[in-house]
Amino acid sequence: MEELNKISYLDYNATTPIDPRVFKAMLPFLKDNFANPSSTHHFGQSINGKVKQAREQIADFINAESNELIFTSGATEAINIAIKGIAESYSNKGKHIITLSTEHKAVLDTCKDLERKGFEVTYLPVQPNGLIDLVELKQVIRPDTILVSVMYINNETGVIQPIKEIATLTHQNGALFITDATQAVGKIEIDVDALGIDLLCFSGHKMYAPKGIGALYVRNKTKLTPQTHGGGHEQGLRSGTLNVPGIIALAKACEIASEEMALNQRKISALRDKLETEFLELPNTSLIGDLENRIFNTTNICFKGQDANVLIGRMKNIAVSNGSACSSAVIEPSHVLKAMGLNDDDAFASLRFSLGKYNTIEDIETVVNKIKELTQPNFKYA
Ligand SMILES: Cc1ncc(COP(=O)(O)O)c(C=O)c1O
Repeated sequence: MEELNKISYLDYNATTPIDPRVFKAMLPFLKDNFANPSSTHHFGQSINGKVKQAREQIADFINAESNELIFTSGATEAINIAIKGIAESYSNKGKHIITLSTEHKAVLDTCKDLERKGFEVTYLPVQPNGLIDLVELKQVIRPDTILVSVMYINNETGVIQPIKEIATLTHQNGALFITDATQAVGKIEIDVDALGIDLLCFSGHKMYAPKGIGALYVRNKTKLTPQTHGGGHEQGLRSGTLNVPGIIALAKACEIASEEMALNQRKISALRDKLETEFLELPNTSLIGDLENRIFNTTNICFKGQDANVLIGRMKNIAVSNGSACSSAVIEPSHVLKAMGLNDDDAFASLRFSLGKYNTIEDIETVVNKIKELTQPNFKYA
């Protein structure tokens, strides 16, 4: 936590620090308890027992059965296994998939890959507030639609989609529903049964566990064609020796999240609201997203006329995000903000602030003061 004390870190949607209790729980499995849980000797089997326990705990956290959980390296891998696996398994029924234009690249690029393989993908536009239009979903869903993929909570805007309604509509039309819940698990209560979710992906490093561990929930009886082959681990759906320290860490992170969820929601939303109010009182600022249907830790604000990348570069010891994808050294405006109708200039002028459980009022004051200083009309860069 030492590094965290030196900076005002408001980028928890990008990644979270490891909770020291999570770190403590996983440590013995990095060192002394190193056996392979697939080994048949007693040492291996004792570790296998711990993995089993952790699997039950994590499954329970989303109200799933333990045999419905596949451990992966993170959300991206889970999404790939799920979408490609469903496409291959159900291609006899149809080759049409529906997703949102505001999805994470892990979903969009997986869909692009499937298009190259003969599938048809509808990238549904969103409303200006980032929410799905259910009437439009009803219009585009067809008898040959096999899968609808909609992110639970958007990583850039915090907008929460109406997951239950989408799942119901999807099932009424005979398709399966998958949600990328990477920004939801750990923050809000999730019950895959009550919501009617068939497949769900999430990632440890967004919920105070380390990078390199994630999970895929697959409702029992859902057919999934394996995309990786090898030792047949994880019911043949994700071959490869299990990441035991990561799994133990994820279980501990779920336990802590479950105990502290209400407290975090209260504390973090108060800080987020303070930050947001301060910014929205400034001239030429506006909120991006939906005021009602959004997660308590995120705010995305357009500072009209500013360049978010310049602002970020000018803020030493402050970590916020511009939500724009930087690939191959070309900085592009965020596809999420563009899909919500922002022009390039406004998309480049937007900053995402995502808070977490270690933030303090001092962090908020530091960030507010610095951005106020940098955006005042007569401010001259040194
Ligand atoms: C909504 C969402 N989906 C997927 C991912 C990818 O997660 P991972 O880094 O675990 O592959 C992220 C992380 O950036 C995310 O925020």
